[in-house]
Amino acid sequence: MTRVAAEAWRTGSVAADEIPEIAGDTSPSVAAIYNSAVAAWAIAAAWEAGALDELYNRGELDAVDFAARHGLDAGSTVGMFRALSAVGVVERDDITIRPTEKFYEVYRTRSFFHWLSKGSAELFRQMHHCMKIENRTGRYWERDSAAIAYACREINELCYDSTFWYAVNRLDFEFDVVADLGCGSGGRVMDMLLRYPGTRGIGIDIARPALEVARQKMDAAGLASRAEFIEADVLDLPTRPEFGEVDLLTCFMMGHDFWPRDNCVETLRGLRRQFPHARRLLLGDATRTVGVADQDLGVFTLGFELAHQLMDAYLPVLSDWESVFEEGGWRLIRTHRIEMAVGEVIFELA
Ligand SMILES: C[S@@+](CC[C@H](N)C(=O)[O-])C[C@H]1O[C@@H](n2cnc3c(N)ncnc32)[C@H](O)[C@@H]1O
Repeated sequence: MTRVAAEAWRTGSVAADEIPEIAGDTSPSVAAIYNSAVAAWAIAAAWEAGALDELYNRGELDAVDFAARHGLDAGSTVGMFRALSAVGVVERDDITIRPTEKFYEVYRTRSFFHWLSKGSAELFRQMHHCMKIENRTGRYWERDSAAIAYACREINELCYDSTFWYAVNRLDFEFDVVADLGCGSGGRVMDMLLRYPGTRGIGIDIARPALEVARQKMDAAGLASRAEFIEADVLDLPTRPEFGEVDLLTCFMMGHDFWPRDNCVETLRGLRRQFPHARRLLLGDATRTVGVADQDLGVFTLGFELAHQLMDAYLPVLSDWESVFEEGGWRLIRTHRIEMAVGEVIFELA
């Protein structure tokens, strides 16, 4: 719709069905924009409900039967699949649901949708509030830390895990105690303890709900005696005797919280002091995109970068990181550039 047509409709001089389409417009229709927003919620819900896995594994499901087996309201469940169908993620023949080709890409990237529509829902709901300068003091925004941790577990697998294990496998020393900074729900600590039986793990995070999930998971896996979870601010860590035993540090998807620059240098120095025997820090994080046209942004980048602008959190570019290590007391041994969704990188620091 052109501005002239919109004005003609608003003033009642044309009927709604007489409004011409804009010739040659290849951008998504307004309906597609709206339906995509609804579908993002539906993708997160379908993941949580187990519908994405079932479609992936079985290739077809009956929405009403699925609802009955999972204790879900049949109408809402069909509605959820309808939202997925509206954007071409599934095909729907009444209550029979089948994956489309696009489904498999959504299946692979479902954690980004969950991150957006569950973990970050409150932040985006309050976008205007967060934009207002007068509000941007103290903790003016909210997110669901347990939901973020849930999504991050899979984002990790997708973006970082293979490179992370590659870096761990080629460490030139054996470690006894690993500490994971900003550990979230403890997935990395758990994976390390499972893979390296003689070791112990410490997870540190500022978010109590995520730590509670981590402790429960360790209990369930029979690993509680080898793991400790500490609620603390990584940017201002207290001194603890067990930190002196740590020989390997990992920190994934929270390094950007070290910034701005002066804070980052201070935090890196602080880690050297608090973990005096740490021989390596594996630091994996996203870096800010540079020079990508708005229309070419892939899944996650836009949500991730806007969320951090709303939270007033600086996202460093690669060269920002490279400029702080030496001053922060660490030597950069190797940079692994992954760049799957948001300029992911893993720095090996000694
Ligand atoms: C995006 S999640 C990543 C979680 C986990 N590292 C992973 O790779 O799945 C970031 C985590 O860092 C934690 N975090 C953020 N700032 C922190 C701080 N200053 N001190 C401790 N934890 C922090 C958050 O609570 C959250 O659990």
